[in-house]
Amino acid sequence: PSMLRSAVSRCSQLSRRGYATNPVPERKVVVLGAAGGIGQPLSLLMKLNPLVSSLSLYDIAGTPGVAAAVSHINTRSEVVGYQGEEQLGKALEGADIVIIPAGVPRKPGMTRDDLFNINAGIVKGLCSAIAKYCPHALVNMISNPVNSTVPIAAEVFKKAGTYDERRLFGVTTLDVVRAKTFYAGKAKVPVAEVNVPVVGGHAGITILPLFSQATPQANLDHDLIQALTKRTQDGGTEVVEAKAGKGSATLSMAYAGAIFADACLKSLNGVPDVVECSYVQSSVTDLPFFASKVRLGKNGWDEVLGLGTLSDFGNQGLENLKGELQSSIEKGIKFANQ
Ligand code: NAD
Ligand code: LMR
Repeated sequence: PSMLRSAVSRCSQLSRRGYATNPVPERKVVVLGAAGGIGQPLSLLMKLNPLVSSLSLYDIAGTPGVAAAVSHINTRSEVVGYQGEEQLGKALEGADIVIIPAGVPRKPGMTRDDLFNINAGIVKGLCSAIAKYCPHALVNMISNPVNSTVPIAAEVFKKAGTYDERRLFGVTTLDVVRAKTFYAGKAKVPVAEVNVPVVGGHAGITILPLFSQATPQANLDHDLIQALTKRTQDGGTEVVEAKAGKGSATLSMAYAGAIFADACLKSLNGVPDVVECSYVQSSVTDLPFFASKVRLGKNGWDEVLGLGTLSDFGNQGLENLKGELQSSIEKGIKFANQ
């Protein structure tokens, strides 16, 4: 047994040495809005990600405390908290990925578009700083209304001369997370094996889950697919109502944001064939921005994948969402150019 123990130990020393010659690259991740309902658990999850070497936590208030607490966790990344606009540049310098959950959340009775008046200005200001301090970072936009905040970001970057569509992502992962959960429950399949593409945008009927393409396949009848679609589209509202005035989804969003950022980190590090749904500049439809599956690469997305075969219900959903999505995009573009 002692010989076995020493052989095992030699083996693990060898594999450690092998690992050391092929180190995990240094990666700086910034969270803007890190002291918020999403920002705090998202900061925790990014601190647990071994692909992160530097974690920069920025907010207008409250980040010293969040950063101090998170920094005590014995994982790879160094954590620094930044507070107030005068520290925004330092927070962003050298970033590989900037995740933006800054802005106000919904209360019952509000649509995501009702957040536009406050959040559009917040996103515009933060994106101007990104263009200045880390123009090559991948941007993961969480702040609502995502259907408009992503076009705002694109316009700000265009004006600054730094726009590269491949580096701008609207985070729609929570829609995918919900669609997977709800589908697994009805299809009686293991949730960990489920895949469901969700396309379109991130608000109401613009959220279009393609249950006809869900795997593992299940023969769900039309009424059930309709009900699953509605529940996915109203998933955010379900949480807003349950929280009864205390905000919107935070924990599931932090999970979804961490999944999407991890996919970005992996592809930056050269892992091939990482595919996620995201709301990006697109020519998949006649809309300039659209969520669909995208293949990630070393410099952002490499390829926006098509929609595949749509059911009649999917086609109808696609036609129904175009008007609203188009006007949310136009609203964002107009605001950014005012
Ligand atoms: P929250 O109010 O709890 O936190 C928002 C944080 O943003 C606060 O800490 C606030 O200080 C900060 N902030 C405000 N202005 C800022 C600025 N200029 N710079 C940096 N930080 C700033 O809200 P929350 O629940 O965390 O939600 C944040 C946003 O995420 C909302 O717009 C919400 O609608 C959106 N959201 C999106 C999704 C999605 O799927 N994409 C899911 C859930 C929530
Ligand atoms: C969500 O989908 O949970 C978020 O967009 C927050 C909201 O306002 O519903």
